[in-house]
Amino acid sequence: MPPTATAATTATAQAQDREATAARLLKISAGNSYDPDVDIDWRAPLDPERMFAPEHRLSLYGTPLWDGLTPQQRIELSKHEVASIASVGIWFEMLLMRLLLRHISDQDPRTGHVQYALTEVGDECRHSIMFARMIEAFGTPAYRPAPMERALGKYLGATAGGVQTFAAALIAEEILDALQREAMADDSLQPLVRMVSRIHVVEEARHIRFARDELARQVAASRRSTGARGWAGRASLAYSRLMIGRAAWTVTHSLIHPGAYAAVGLDPVAARAAAWRNPVFRETLRWSAERVTAYLQELGLVEGPARRLWRASALI
Ligand SMILES: [Fe+2]
Ligand SMILES: [Fe+2]
Repeated sequence: MPPTATAATTATAQAQDREATAARLLKISAGNSYDPDVDIDWRAPLDPERMFAPEHRLSLYGTPLWDGLTPQQRIELSKHEVASIASVGIWFEMLLMRLLLRHISDQDPRTGHVQYALTEVGDECRHSIMFARMIEAFGTPAYRPAPMERALGKYLGATAGGVQTFAAALIAEEILDALQREAMADDSLQPLVRMVSRIHVVEEARHIRFARDELARQVAASRRSTGARGWAGRASLAYSRLMIGRAAWTVTHSLIHPGAYAAVGLDPVAARAAAWRNPVFRETLRWSAERVTAYLQELGLVEGPARRLWRASALI
C-alpha cells in the first residue's frame, strides 16, 4: 500500500476507535451520574471528633512537628489540607474545562467524541460546585495555587495541544483519585468527605478512561507526523514532555497550601519545608501517582530533561 493510503487507513481506524470509546462512556454517564445538590446532605453538621483525611496521608505525619500537635490540631490540619486539595481541584477542573472546550471547538458536534467531551465538562462543572460547597461547609479559606502556577495554568489553557491536555488531565485526576478512593472507604472519616470522594471517584473513572485512550491516540498521531521528515512531530513531543513534567510539578507543589499550616499555628515556611523533606509525604505523592507515572513512561513521555521535573515533583 502507498504511504498515503496507509496513513488514511490508520486515521480511519483511529476515528473508529475514538467513537467506540465515546459511545461506551456516554452510556455509562447516562446510567451513573450524581447530582450533589440532592445526593449530599449539606445540612448535616461536621463531627468535631473525626479526621477529614487518614492521618498517614497528611503532609506532616511522622515529623517532629506532627508529634507536637494536639489531637484537636491534627483534626484541624486535616480539614485545611483537604480544603487545600479541593481548592486546587477546582482550579484544575476549570483549566481542564477550558482545555476540553478548546480541544473540541473545531470538531464535528455530531460525533460521540465531542458529545462525551461536553458531558465531561458538565461533570467537572458539578464537581467544582460540590468542592466549593464542601470548602464552604468546612469554614476554611479557599486556598489557591501560587501566582507563578496560576500564570502557567493560563499559558497552558491557551496553548496546550492534545498530548499536553490529556497528560495533564491524567496526572491531576489520578492523584486525586488515589487519595479519594482511600478516603471513601475509611469509615472513621467525616461522612461529608467520604460522600464527596465517592461521587468524584465514580465519575472520574470514566474521565480517566477517556484521557488514557485519547492520550495514546494523540501520541501515536504525533509520532506519525511526517512534517519536515518527522522533525515536527519529534520537536512537539519533546516540548510536550517538558510541559507535562512542569504540570506534574505544579500539581504536587500546589496540593497543600502553606496557609493550612498557619491555620494550626505552625510557621508556614518551616512546615512546608518539613513536609517536602518528609519521606512519608513524598511516598504518598509517589504512591498516588504511580499508575499515571507508569502509563506516561510507557508512552515515552517521561524521558530526557523532563525527568528532572518528575524527580523534583517527588513522583519518580
Ligand atoms: Fe472532577
Ligand atoms: Fe475529571
